[in-house]
Amino acid sequence: MDKLIIKGGKHLKGEIEISGAKNAALPVMAASMLAAGENTISRVPDLRDVKTMGRLLSNMGAEFYYEPHRAIIRTDRIKKLEAPYELVKEMRASVLVLGPMVARFGRARVSLPGGCAIGARPINLHLMGLEKMGARIELEAGYVKATAKRLKGATIYFDTSTVTGTENLMMAATLAKGTTVLENAAREPEVIDLAEALKKMGARINGAGESLIEIEGVEELKPVNHTVIPDRIEAGTFMTIAGMTGGDITIRGCMLEHLHAFIMKLQEAGLRFEKAKDGVRVLGPARPRAIDIETAPYPGFPTDMQAQFMALMSIAQGTSIVTETIFENRFMHVAELMRMGADISFKGSTATVKGIKKLKGANVMATDLRASASLVVAALRAEGETTIHRLYHLDRGYEKMEKKLRGLRADVKREKG
Ligand code: EPU
Repeated sequence: MDKLIIKGGKHLKGEIEISGAKNAALPVMAASMLAAGENTISRVPDLRDVKTMGRLLSNMGAEFYYEPHRAIIRTDRIKKLEAPYELVKEMRASVLVLGPMVARFGRARVSLPGGCAIGARPINLHLMGLEKMGARIELEAGYVKATAKRLKGATIYFDTSTVTGTENLMMAATLAKGTTVLENAAREPEVIDLAEALKKMGARINGAGESLIEIEGVEELKPVNHTVIPDRIEAGTFMTIAGMTGGDITIRGCMLEHLHAFIMKLQEAGLRFEKAKDGVRVLGPARPRAIDIETAPYPGFPTDMQAQFMALMSIAQGTSIVTETIFENRFMHVAELMRMGADISFKGSTATVKGIKKLKGANVMATDLRASASLVVAALRAEGETTIHRLYHLDRGYEKMEKKLRGLRADVKREKG
């Protein structure tokens, strides 16, 4: 298992280019299953999760070709309507093929994802929606089997805002008979991007980005040619790195409007933002101010930035209260940050972070994708050397992280293992 070795303490300076969004690319890849033919998706990041989705689609009979940063998916000869346990357990987003498969082929068998490091993460809302659209749902041996002659339009209310749940049902509804209304739908930019891709395929969708989405089903869709949006979480992570290292980083190719709430908090913490050509220049203070945050569905503070922000707060002046409202177990990074000297305690979903002057390098373990990013953020400021183990978590979601960091003059190396 690879590890990352970082010598901290440098003021990072330079420019980076943001990659395509993992969480936008994966649903559009799944959407390719809705039509027969050749789909071309551009700005697809070169990541482990993208490869896993490619394997999943190939396993179903699609032809998947990937060249950085373009995915070509041929979907005329789909023969196996299944997402097996071996792939779903590697990547929960595999469940995104459920809606498209039932919509186009009338049946699907998808392994239940089970819990993961950040929480139980059930898919009951995905299933409730499909059932409302007339699918028969059976659970057998850890698999969900969904069947329907043709899905029919329905009004579906989500008790909890769910990103992939909204995406799955929006895809399913594109080929249903009649109109589907999704109420309390997720409003994340990745949902909007998927709707844009689906519209290019011929889908009729109104309201993506709002909490009420209306989808009028059509008989057939055509393959897609789409470029996915830039990764707002990668951009936010590099902004945090600027804040952490007293850095001066110009971030190109990101959409700042996708990070509004997050940037407001960084500004409160003392970071400065200046307009730059194709992007933004982010200047970090000598030491940030402590700021309280609470995660919320978009447009609130993203849960996917909570761990990295907590790393920043660990060296802030003052005490910060971090409240996680989306996932019940998303504090796995706390114990690792404490190994580096951070003063953090938590009870339930609230962490109290008492800022200290210096973190110290240590051996730490990545437990999930964003937790691993928070360890990178912390290590870049820490005195001495930090070794981050189980790096495969980081590789799931950050494209060429160490190369980008080296471009900012960080002292980072990967050790193969
Ligand atoms: N939930 C239910 N039932 C459901 C679906 C969700 O109770 O049927 C609950 C979840 O347990 C959670 C909350 O609803 O408490 C929100 O979860 P959501 O469904 O929105 O999460 P997701 O769609 O599984 C996506 C991203 C995550 C990101 C979350 C929240 C993708 C592929 N994944 O997950 O990204 O944290 O939305 O914004 O889009 C990551 O990239 O590291 C990552 C974990």
